[in-house]
Amino acid sequence: MELLSTPKQLMAYCRNATRPLGIVPTMGSIHQGHIELVKQAQSECDTVIVTLFINPLQFGEEKDFDSYPRSINEDSEVLSSYGVDALYFPETSLIYPDGFSTSINVYGPALPMEGLTRPGHFDGVATIVAKLLINSGPDNAYFGRKDGQQLAVIKRMVKDLEIPTNIREIDTVREADGLAYSSRNNLLNSNQRLAAPILYESLSAGKMAFEGGERNPLVITGVAFEILEAAKRKGLLFTIDYLEMVDLMSMMPWSSGDAMLAGAIRLGDIRIIDNVILVENNIDGISREE
Ligand code: PAF
Repeated sequence: MELLSTPKQLMAYCRNATRPLGIVPTMGSIHQGHIELVKQAQSECDTVIVTLFINPLQFGEEKDFDSYPRSINEDSEVLSSYGVDALYFPETSLIYPDGFSTSINVYGPALPMEGLTRPGHFDGVATIVAKLLINSGPDNAYFGRKDGQQLAVIKRMVKDLEIPTNIREIDTVREADGLAYSSRNNLLNSNQRLAAPILYESLSAGKMAFEGGERNPLVITGVAFEILEAAKRKGLLFTIDYLEMVDLMSMMPWSSGDAMLAGAIRLGDIRIIDNVILVENNIDGISREE
């Protein structure tokens, strides 16, 4: 696996890469969810680059940035063992050198939910993803549906800026008890880890109601809320940030078409997010387009 550490090295590597070229942007702490992105990329591309950059622009509190898990040596070994062609691992000062004064501002799907809880977060995500896409010029870029709002924001940005890269998405990968793989799971203590699957359990109950024919968002979110409230009454310790049923593309309150039921809870200092997709027209699949 080739190690690339500067934007210039990335650009040179990509210019000579055998096409199709796929990139898998990550912030490291590689887990099974990332591996599935890599495998999907490898099945569709001749060259696959994983990028690993913990992007300060997308963190609100410094504490969150400082405590974000870091494991570059293990990550590099794992990615190499999966046959990734190159790992791009730049220093922060090369991505945001002194005097850096540009930001991509995203609106629309970036505004509700995570946008309200984490002001500026999606501007930071959009700015780094745009830089990575401009620097590498890939045919495809791979993202997980676990961060469903992020995916909607990135698709919107790529469309608005007419960036010639296909955004490819893969289903959320889960542990045996339903908890979605996430780098932040490493920060949960054992009690928090035991409680964490309740979020997916509640979203799944909402999804079951939808699949049973229920179409009233208040009823569907109500079903999910009730699972969370019942778990709290039994003594699980967490607070609910939000639970919302939104349109899959616009992230606005749902009225028809495919939806996302999304939620965020806090277990102590750790915030976890998850979602399920409610497919009205049953055309789910990796390449579903707008
Ligand atoms: O999903 C992530 O890990 C990050 O938000 C991303 C897309 C790599 C941008 O920093």
